[in-house]
Parts: sequence; structure tokens; C-alpha cells
Amino acid sequence: MRISLIAATGADRQLGKENKLLWHIPEDWKFFKTKTLNHPIVMGRKTFDSIGKALPKRENIVVTGNKEFSMENVTVIHDPMMVFDVGLELEEKAHANGSLSPDEDLEVFIIGGATLYEFFLPYATTLYLTEVNFEGEADVFFPMISSNEWVIDDISEWMESGEHQYRFLTLVREDAEENGDPSNTDE
Ligand SMILES: NC(=O)c1ccc[n+]([C@@H]2O[C@H](COP(=O)([O-])OP(=O)(O)OC[C@H]3O[C@@H](n4cnc5c(N)ncnc54)[C@H](OP(=O)(O)O)[C@@H]3O)[C@@H](O)[C@H]2O)c1
Repeated sequence: MRISLIAATGADRQLGKENKLLWHIPEDWKFFKTKTLNHPIVMGRKTFDSIGKALPKRENIVVTGNKEFSMENVTVIHDPMMVFDVGLELEEKAHANGSLSPDEDLEVFIIGGATLYEFFLPYATTLYLTEVNFEGEADVFFPMISSNEWVIDDISEWMESGEHQYRFLTLVREDAEENGDPSNTDE
């Protein structure tokens, strides 16, 4: 399995305010849907609350410390590390039923919010970021990413949606070994 983060961020990495998104960009929602459909999605309990229900045609995994939390069509976990156990189980099932070919990894999407992005960034190999030209206030932010660790795999033109401009950016983790980082070799 592999971990990807998918997020829409403002000019200063803004993600949301008062548990709401900061813009409405239908094209970004379509992009999110296309990417995540038929894949497991993992979110913090606050992001789940802001969406309000499980998203269809995706395994919805919600992280919460609340042992009472239970919701229809949602797999609840109390420790974010459990994502790896649940993901591997789903990957085995997908290999067994042929929905994933034997040499394919299951792509698990972390869909927010800030606490989950922060937690899973070190494990992620792909970041799908929608950059929005939003400069207003926020109370949650996407973590800082290092340009030494991530390279641009794909980038779109800036596009317009209502009052906003946005573009899609895909970053992949730089291979530390190729980069000459001796800490990543077996020797
Ligand atoms: N722009 C975007 O792409 C995007 C995407 C997603 C969300 N958002 C925005 O982000 C904001 C929400 O983000 P957030 O960081 O405040 O909250 P969050 O990450 O969605 O959820 C936080 C909650 O997750 C649970 N949790 C997190 N780490 C845990 C751990 N180690 N063990 C157990 N439970 C854990 C806790 O739930 P309990 O309190 O239940 O224990 C915690 O309160 C909203 O404004 C939302 O609109 C933006």
C-alpha cells in the first residue's frame, strides 16, 4: 500500500477555519472525487463532522480518540497507525478479488484535516495539492514541506473558478538514494 495526501491550500497553506473550508471550487471537488473514488480515504473526526456523512464508493476511515464514536459506513480507528493494518487488509482483499492487479499497490488517501496531514506526511509518497489564490484567515494549515524532499511530477495552468484562481500540483517524494543520501542505502 502507499499513502497519498490530497488537500486544497491557500497562498499561505491555509486549509480551513471554524471547521469549514475556505472556498467553494466545484472543479476541485470533481478532481478530489476522480482521484479518491474506489480508494480508501482517511480523515480526522473533525473533517468527518464537517462533511457530515460517509462519502460513497470509498472505504471511509475516521480517526478519533472517542471510543463511543460510531457511524454508518465508517471504519473507526483510535490510533492513526492502524491505517497501515486496515490498508494492508484492504490491499490483500483487492489482490484476492482481482480489483487490483498483483503488482499494484493500494493507494490510500489522507483527506485531512491538519492533524492527519501532519501525522501522515512522513509516510506519504505523493501529494495532490490544489493551490488556491486565497489570502484570508484560517485556523488550520497544511504542514511545511521541504523542496529537498519533494519534486513536481505534474502541474497545471492556473484556472479560474468564480472569484478564485487555482491550479493542480502533484508532488512525489524525491528518492533519497538517487539523491546521494547515504542514510538511505543498505551499506
Ligand atoms: N482544504 C482542505 O483540503 C481540507 C481538507 C480537510 C479538512 N480541511 C479543514 O481542516 C479543518 C479540520 O482539521 P483539524 O486539524 O482541525 O481536524 P482533523 O484532523 O480533521 O480531526 C482532528 C481529530 O481527529 C482525531 N485525531 C487526530 N489525531 C489523533 C490521534 N493521534 N489519536 C486519536 N484521534 C486523533 C481527534 O478526534 P476526537 O476529537 O474525536 O478524539 C481530533 O480531534 C476543517 O476546517 C476542515 O474544513 C481542509
